[in-house]
Amino acid sequence: MAIVVNGIAHPPPDDPRMSLLDLLRERLGLTGTKLGCNQGGCGACTVIIDGVRVLSCLTLAVQADGREVRTIEGLAPQDGELHPLQHAFIEHDGFQCGYCTPGQICSAIAMIEELRRGDPSYVTADLAEGPTGARRHEIRERMSGNLCRCGAHNGIIDAIETLMDGEAA
Ligand code: FES
Ligand code: FES
Repeated sequence: MAIVVNGIAHPPPDDPRMSLLDLLRERLGLTGTKLGCNQGGCGACTVIIDGVRVLSCLTLAVQADGREVRTIEGLAPQDGELHPLQHAFIEHDGFQCGYCTPGQICSAIAMIEELRRGDPSYVTADLAEGPTGARRHEIRERMSGNLCRCGAHNGIIDAIETLMDGEAA
């Protein structure tokens, strides 16, 4: 089997205790994915596996065997380009130091898919209607697992809303 990272297949590590975060950063040199708390509390290490956001610090690399992992390095359509959400983060000052940004962006991309599927969140007012109501409120709740110590949250939410508005247009 193989762990496919941004379209490239890699063998799983010999050590079954290695986290996916360590595999990405230490073995594959994909340092865009950040180490923050290393215990599931900050979201800096968020990557996307088969379309679902996961905390790579709490995921064993071997759990990604046979699956597709996307990291911040693999989001842009081509080398030298940016993903539309990366553009929106720049436009809305969705970061300061940038340390949390790769995790925020990976999380948001998968979060938008959750919204499209109609997955309810903790604050969804009417489960029958799906998460269409107070959208900013919904996005804040759904992004609450990604902390930003620089306090760029308003810009982050603005950027996500801009992307969603553009996709809906
Ligand atoms: S480093 Fe994984 S949640 Fe903080
Ligand atoms: S931009 Fe600095 S931690 Fe979020």
